[in-house]
Amino acid sequence: MVKISPSLLACNFTKIGEEMESIRIAGADMAHLDIMDGVFVTNISFGLPVVSAIRKHSDMFLDVHLMIINPEKYIDRFIDAGADLITFHIEATNDPEACIAAIQKRGKKAALSVKPNTPIEAVYPFLDRCDMILIMTVEPGYGGQSLIPECLKKVSKLRAEIQKRKIDVAIQVDGGINEKTAKSAIEAGADILVAGSSVFNNQDRKAAIDALRCLT
Ligand code: DX5
Ligand code: ZN
Repeated sequence: MVKISPSLLACNFTKIGEEMESIRIAGADMAHLDIMDGVFVTNISFGLPVVSAIRKHSDMFLDVHLMIINPEKYIDRFIDAGADLITFHIEATNDPEACIAAIQKRGKKAALSVKPNTPIEAVYPFLDRCDMILIMTVEPGYGGQSLIPECLKKVSKLRAEIQKRKIDVAIQVDGGINEKTAKSAIEAGADILVAGSSVFNNQDRKAAIDALRCLT
């Protein structure tokens, strides 16, 4: 079954602990934490102290999405703060291989992400070493945007490449995932759906998550 990773970017930040608990009870598989530096993307979200606070409050798997330049400088600190998986952008570093190695050396999962205009082939030289690839389905930086349908073609292409290589690499999609777009993302081959507004704008978190799994 497809996994769901709600993005806390859309939650009520004055009640992060309760928001985390609400998605855990609703059956979320992990929690997605969006870190933005105002340089790689034109927005600033939250950073290390918030990740640490969430870690102390919850034992959920923390899926940390770094939208920051030079991620290599911060990998160890995000792992110390409690990240279980770190995604960084291929457009943000000159040495993706070193970043993957630094994450995995600490026993954590490593993922590479591509923005909408980056061809999926850009990750192929590193694919065998990755635990996951995150295909952005909106321009990173903001929640609440509409999914760019073209990006789903990259999901199908990557799914075929993973099958051809007979490797175990998960595909995550992020941006504009709601009960209407989830089905096409799953059909294209996504294993994990990130969803911010469609989960946190619905008071019934379980209904929102079940709808994304296309169970209802
Ligand atoms: C955007 C972030 C996403 C965002 C998704 O840059 O990476 O994780 O929170 O939000 P929705 O689901 O509202 O598009
Ligand atoms: Zn994200």
